[in-house]
Amino acid sequence: MSPIYSMISDAIILKKEIALRDWFTRDCDKSMKIIDGLDIGWGGTQRWATANMPVSITAPHLDFCCGYGTFLAHLGWRFPDARLIGLNIDYVGPHALINSLLSEAGVDVSLVQADARQMPFTDNVFGSVSCFLGLQDIRIGFGDSGVRQALEEATRVLNAGGSLVLLDDFSFEAFDVFLAGMPLRVERRGKAKLNIRWDRATAEMAIGLYAKGYVKQRRSCDREESVGVYEEVYDRMMAEMERQLSDIGYYVPFDSVRMVISKKTGRE
Ligand SMILES: C[S@@+](CC[C@H](N)C(=O)[O-])C[C@H]1O[C@@H](n2cnc3c(N)ncnc32)[C@H](O)[C@@H]1O
Repeated sequence: MSPIYSMISDAIILKKEIALRDWFTRDCDKSMKIIDGLDIGWGGTQRWATANMPVSITAPHLDFCCGYGTFLAHLGWRFPDARLIGLNIDYVGPHALINSLLSEAGVDVSLVQADARQMPFTDNVFGSVSCFLGLQDIRIGFGDSGVRQALEEATRVLNAGGSLVLLDDFSFEAFDVFLAGMPLRVERRGKAKLNIRWDRATAEMAIGLYAKGYVKQRRSCDREESVGVYEEVYDRMMAEMERQLSDIGYYVPFDSVRMVISKKTGRE
């Protein structure tokens, strides 16, 4: 059976999202509640994505680069009958939170620790596969060839007729380049803005934290290089913040999320 779209309403999902965000940010002060709270739902784009993507309920669904599982929570709420598998390169540091987050969300997931560039699964086992903002992390840590390898793996483990749902801040043209030559037919594309409006104080605090996070994803052991990367990212984000505050009067920390849904071709 082909992957299906969900009938569960946004109102139900929103209620769960707000409750999970309250739990997630329960120990934060006012500013950090806003900044950390973004992770749950990603400015409404996770709700938008699961409302517009198909997921298999007959064969298991894989979400790779699942991080600490915020998108898996949304997948579980929207597709309560799906058998969810999460894959991430590690579950240490902030990613160790995944078990308590999914338990709080009431979503059951089997977790696998592995590099998405070499997935420990046989061919054609998943009915659908997704990745929410994971390809950009692979690109930072492992370059364009790393993204391409992960997409080849995601396609290999997907069964024919299954859906590959990619969500990231790449342009559609960049997605096309990454997917070129793979046994996939693009079926749908979509784009959603983050529903976020931050003031200067929140923006400045967040940018410092994001620049540190970026350095971590680079996985460099060279301190001098790390300082250089931090300064480059910090300055670039601050300049963008100044531009947005002057043009629109508020700051949206990240670009729109673009979704590309492809079907694996071949004999079903
Ligand atoms: C920004 S997070 C993605 C957000 C996540 N999908 C969520 O729902 O919260 C990116 C994740 O990709 C993981 N990652 C980076 N490179 C990876 C790789 N080669 N294989 C598997 N996971 C990887 C990082 O550990 C990080 O948790």
